Amino acid sequence: MSVTPALEADVLRRQDPELAEILLGELVRQSTTLQLTAAENFTSPAVLAALGSPLANKYAEGYPGARYHGGCELVDVAENIAVERARALFDAEHANVQSHSGSSAVLAAYAALLRPGDTVLALGLPHGGHLTHGSPANFSGRWFDFVGYGVDAETGLIDHPQVRALARTHRPKAIVCGSIAYPRHIDYAFFRDVADEVGAYLIVDAAHPIGLVAGRAAPSPVPYADVVCATTHKVLRGPRGGMILCGHELAARIDRAVFPFTQSGAQMHTVAAKAVAFGEAATPAFAAYAHQVVANARALAAALAAEGLVVTTGGTDTHLLTADPGPLGVDGRTARGRLAAAGMVLDCCALPHGDARGLRLGTAAVTTQGMGEGEMTKIAALLAGVLRGDVEPAGARAEVRELAGGFPPYPR
Ligand SMILES: Cc1ncc(COP(=O)(O)O)c(C=O)c1O
Repeated sequence: MSVTPALEADVLRRQDPELAEILLGELVRQSTTLQLTAAENFTSPAVLAALGSPLANKYAEGYPGARYHGGCELVDVAENIAVERARALFDAEHANVQSHSGSSAVLAAYAALLRPGDTVLALGLPHGGHLTHGSPANFSGRWFDFVGYGVDAETGLIDHPQVRALARTHRPKAIVCGSIAYPRHIDYAFFRDVADEVGAYLIVDAAHPIGLVAGRAAPSPVPYADVVCATTHKVLRGPRGGMILCGHELAARIDRAVFPFTQSGAQMHTVAAKAVAFGEAATPAFAAYAHQVVANARALAAALAAEGLVVTTGGTDTHLLTADPGPLGVDGRTARGRLAAAGMVLDCCALPHGDARGLRLGTAAVTTQGMGEGEMTKIAALLAGVLRGDVEPAGARAEVRELAGGFPPYPR
């Protein structure tokens, strides 16, 4: 059996060449373009090995020692290791590592703490809130009464006076902080204070910064939040999945909200891969990585600003930044298309001011590849050249291929 089945696709190639071509083609795509999507990263071969392991075959409803299926002796050990590593990594009293995704983690947190119809205060979607923070197209907006706070149109920073005023007016049952695009550290102490004043639970959706927290490159929400929801696949560099951290008091409610309320069988190959990722994230090498991710994001933000883009909040504290390409003569959507053609893969996002779309970029993946501040400056110059039309798309694509080629995500 191959230890890196996702990369070593010979078995698949023999049996199903059609699918093997797609897997290998995706590896080529990821290796020859620049992954600037803020939510993506490259997991290690060890994480991929766990994902492609026989644990994928195992049904394991319930929790270690209390399963509804036989034969769980070994997956129980894997889950216990994942839980203990998560608790140690984040200094949390309790960890649930079964959530299938970040959205499932948020769903479980709401299920544990709220009843349908309850009022919840969260960052509004046009200001960087996630779908699960009250979108009418999502269960959250359908089942709860969300009130949205915003960011200041000028500074792009969370409008703290508005948060407090809305909390006093609406007396929410829970306050959610966390975002898909906020580039600055969130003031968890402030949100704790507001939640205490109005008797609300504080749910921190740390899907984005949790990897920086693991690497001690961002403040931890754990001491402040009643419940922390997270993903394991962004800066944290683990498998696609979710995780919930909380104190002893809420532990049983959170566990019941995950299983049996919102999920049944845990995906044990993913749970094992989470354990591997938590092990990696506890190393000094990962702390150095997390700090480099931030240094790279800061360098990229500064270089993009120097090229004429308007960087929201003037910079970043984290792995992500958002920017308005308007001064270069293009809106966000057009910019994303042109950049994709040049091999620079990133997202559009809302901007704090007006209706124009901006660009959201992150440095987690390129930093895993080993790029540093020098490469960030090159990327910014190339990106701006493409948007201004100074660089031909074919020429830009060739430059991107050469740059990416110097930093293979899975060196052989
Ligand atoms: C703040 C936030 N919450 C939740 C999620 C949902 O994660 P998933 O896509 O794993 O459901 C994301 C994903 O980007 C996110 O940014």
